[in-house]
Amino acid sequence: MEIRVFETADQASRAAAILIASQVTAKPASVLGLATGSSPIPCYQELIRMNEAGLVDFSKVVTYNLDEYVGLSGEHPCSYRYFMNDQLFDHININKEATHVPNGQAEDFAACGAAYDEAIRQAGGLDLQLLGLGRNGHIGFNEPGDVFIRPCHSVQLSESTIEANTRFFDSKDDVPRYAITLGIGSIMDARKVVLIATGASKAQAVHDAVKGDISPRVQASVLQGHHDCIFLLDREAASLL
Ligand code: GLP
Repeated sequence: MEIRVFETADQASRAAAILIASQVTAKPASVLGLATGSSPIPCYQELIRMNEAGLVDFSKVVTYNLDEYVGLSGEHPCSYRYFMNDQLFDHININKEATHVPNGQAEDFAACGAAYDEAIRQAGGLDLQLLGLGRNGHIGFNEPGDVFIRPCHSVQLSESTIEANTRFFDSKDDVPRYAITLGIGSIMDARKVVLIATGASKAQAVHDAVKGDISPRVQASVLQGHHDCIFLLDREAASLL
């Protein structure tokens, strides 16, 4: 696990853009695992800028997003499909058909999750997985629990995650209680993992993920066992290391 600490959150997130652009330049048909949340927004802005400047070409790239809220359609402004279109896909030369987000409106989430995992396998696996970090140490929507769940699965969101994500909705009552998320299996199988964590609210989770025991109580701690994982942090998020 490599740790890089930057002065500002913007710098940490933009550093992820360089890693993604390098990946796509080295392999134009890269399969990218992408993340939502506020942490990757500067990264996506930088990728848009680089794409506009002709520095990186997304025309052959395939993407699989980590997660989606159960019950929200892709047109809902709080859905992760909407977020990805709005923050990235609508502004770069990617083939929209090659962008994937789990279906939050599936009738059978076990079948939907298995098909999502299989699609990633058929695509050759993830070359690079971008991650944010939940305040409780979650990655994707893999919440603290007794086990690491490998397959893509539906999950009940914890109170802390609902609280943290209320800022994106009109009220706490509007935050979906369930989500579908890529499991720890596909994340750990990614050839490279890049995690962005910024701000004081992430400091404890960063500490526990990096210095604590590998435990499903802090799902990101599993990354200690990944062979090529980089944490991009700002000073506040790194303050307890
Ligand atoms: C959500 C997402 C995660 C993300 C986390 C942190 O729960 N499912 O993938 O990492 O939020 O978000 P933020 O970067 O806004 O703190």
